[in-house]
Amino acid sequence: MKPRNLHTKIFLDSGIPTETQEMLQLLTFLDGQTTNPSLMAKNPVLSGKKFSKSELYDTYQKIATEISGLLPQGSVSLEVYADKDTSYEVMLEEGRKLNQWIPNAHIKLPITKVGLQVARTLVDEGVNVNMTLCFTQDQAAAVYQATTGAKRGQVYVSPFIGRLEDIGFSGMSLVFNIEQMYREEGDGHVMILAASIRSLEHLMLCLSRNIDIITAGSGVYKRWADQGCIVPDATYQHISDREAIPYTKDLLQNPSVDIQHNLTDTGLQRFADDWNNLLTL
Ligand code: E4P
Repeated sequence: MKPRNLHTKIFLDSGIPTETQEMLQLLTFLDGQTTNPSLMAKNPVLSGKKFSKSELYDTYQKIATEISGLLPQGSVSLEVYADKDTSYEVMLEEGRKLNQWIPNAHIKLPITKVGLQVARTLVDEGVNVNMTLCFTQDQAAAVYQATTGAKRGQVYVSPFIGRLEDIGFSGMSLVFNIEQMYREEGDGHVMILAASIRSLEHLMLCLSRNIDIITAGSGVYKRWADQGCIVPDATYQHISDREAIPYTKDLLQNPSVDIQHNLTDTGLQRFADDWNNLLTL
C-alpha cells in the first residue's frame, strides 16, 4: 500500500514492461515510468538484435504502448533519438511523433540549445516534456526559462544523481540546489524528477525532502520494499564523501547563457550509440 506520508511520486526507470508489472505487484502502485534509449535497448525484444529504422520504431512504439497501458493514470517518459548534430526540425518532428503514440507521454529532450528550443515549441503545443541529462543548476534555470507559462506537471527536469557521483560530486546537492531555487525564486511550473538513482540512500534522501518525483530501477525499489517502504522525515541524513556543489543565488532572474556540460554531451552520445547499435547498417 502507498505510504500515507509519501509525497514524492514514484516512477520506475526501465524499458521492460514485465518489470512494470513486477513493481506494480511489489509496491501496489507506480506513478509513472521513465525510459531512455539505453534502457529500451536492454529490453529482451531488442537486446542483441538488429533492425531497420522502421522496424526499430515499430518495436519502440509497441513497448511504449504496453507500458502506457499498464500505467493509464501515470506518466511515461519517451526519449527522442538525438545526437549533437540533430537539428531543431528533426528533434521537433520526432517529439511530436512519440507524443502521438500514447496518451500519457512526457517527451524527453536533452538540455542543449536545440533541446530547449524544441521544448519551447512542444510546451506551446500542449505537449508534456521531461528535460533530461541535467548536471547543473544553470541547466535547470534554463529549463525553467524555456518553458515559462507551462502548467505544473507539464515540465519535468531530470538531474542525474549517480552520474555526478561517478565523477566525485554529490548529485544530491544538485537536486537540493534546484529544489531551493525553484521554491524560493520560481512559480512551480517545473517539477524535479530525480534520476540516475543508484542507492537506497539516494531514494531515502529524496523522499525525506519531498522531492517531486523519483525514478529508480527495480533493484532499488526491492531494497526499499524489504525495509517496509519507509518514508524518512526531514531529519534524515546521509554523509556523502562526494564534493557538495555550491548553491548559486538569483539564477532564475539572471540565468547563465552557458548551459554546456560534458556529461550532457557524453550522455547524449551514449544514448545515441546504444540506439544506433540496434540498427542494421
Ligand atoms: C531516467 O530518466 C534516466 O535516463 C536514468 O535514470 C539514467 O540513469 P543512469 O545514469 O543509471 O543511466
